[in-house]
Amino acid sequence: MSLLEAATQVRERAYAPYSRFKVGAAIRAASGAIYSGCNVENVAYPEGTCAEAGAIAAMVAAGETKIAEVLVIADSPAPVPPCGGCRQKIAEFAGQEVKVTLCTTDGASRVMTVADLLPGVFTAAHMDRA
Ligand code: THU
Repeated sequence: MSLLEAATQVRERAYAPYSRFKVGAAIRAASGAIYSGCNVENVAYPEGTCAEAGAIAAMVAAGETKIAEVLVIADSPAPVPPCGGCRQKIAEFAGQEVKVTLCTTDGASRVMTVADLLPGVFTAAHMDRA
């Protein structure tokens, strides 16, 4: 299965009764395995979680911590970009060069890297004097 197929499938299972904006994310990890996630909203709005967070949680739960590639899809007018928090979450497990493909359900896409998404990322190295 491709990242696009995985993200498209999992997007259908998103729980988004409040925004009605379903998002699917798929990660190819270092092993080659694919992990996917969808957004899961909550009536207490800030408790909702993004699709990317779900995919990352599935990857870590499976015992992997290295992201090789990411794809995100939504029914949006332009390819959907990860939110700020998800950019930092992706950067925790992905090198700056990792490809992140942003997609719409009608076939548009935009390819970016983690560095494009989060320039000047805060990393563990910034705490070296602590
Ligand atoms: N959302 C994601 O799951 N990922 C993104 O990259 C952008 C936004 C979700 C969060 C919320 O459930 C809905 O989309 C509207 O913000």
